[in-house]
Amino acid sequence: MNIILFGPPGSGKGTQSKFIIDFLNLKLISLGYILRNYSLKNHKIRRLLNSGNLVPNYITTGIVKDYIFNNYTQNGYLFDGFPRNIIQAKSLNFIKIDYVIELYMCNKLILNRLLGRRIHVNSGRIYHVLYNPPHKYGVDDITGEKLVSRDDDTNISVIKKRLSIYYYELIYIRSYYKKLFNKRKIKGYFRINAENNINFVKEKILNILS
Ligand code: AP5
Repeated sequence: MNIILFGPPGSGKGTQSKFIIDFLNLKLISLGYILRNYSLKNHKIRRLLNSGNLVPNYITTGIVKDYIFNNYTQNGYLFDGFPRNIIQAKSLNFIKIDYVIELYMCNKLILNRLLGRRIHVNSGRIYHVLYNPPHKYGVDDITGEKLVSRDDDTNISVIKKRLSIYYYELIYIRSYYKKLFNKRKIKGYFRINAENNINFVKEKILNILS
């Protein structure tokens, strides 16, 4: 089963991805996580991420294709943060997408989520100072290493940029997948209110997928 999970920044894609891949035994393709790793060595990618702009399609589509060819699985893939535009969506035509899940929520709550998010850099584990705190303040539950804010979460104008790009592309992506759904080329297109707490959203998604 191949699933696309998309939603605005901070809507919980990374958080929910973990539950979905464990539930269905899928491989996770998280573009943001992959690109953040690239950005440690590539200053052009780092600049793009820190400015809130998208990384060019030729790079992202190449990463996804390489990942799929090098990480074959019969069970399927969960795409977190890909596609983000029509070119990326069409680049996935070589595999069958089964379900598309769109998370939605209001911008005010998004801001709280992003400003309070902390991550463990090496693993990508995600926390929130209020909504999903680590056992011990400021450190990762598993390794005890320090948690940090993402650079693109600390600047309000960068957050606004990420949101504006997302909402601009959303219209095209939604209509693209709705058309595929109407032609029965995908099995389901679901919209989930991501303003509820983590477990509530998780139950909603897993119910749909089971
Ligand atoms: P990416 O890392 O994908 O960032 P994003 O899309 O902005 O999404 P986020 O990671 O910010 O949020 P999320 O939805 O995963 O939320 P999370 O679970 O962490 O991409 C980063 C950058 O990489 C992009 O800006 C772009 O430059 C580049 N990029 C990535 N993909 C690309 C592509 N395809 N093409 C081109 N460029 C690309 O949750 C957020 C916080 O809220 C956490 O603290 C969490 O604990 C908390 N939380 C989660 N769910 C809940 C809940 N239900 N209730 C309360 N708190 C919650």
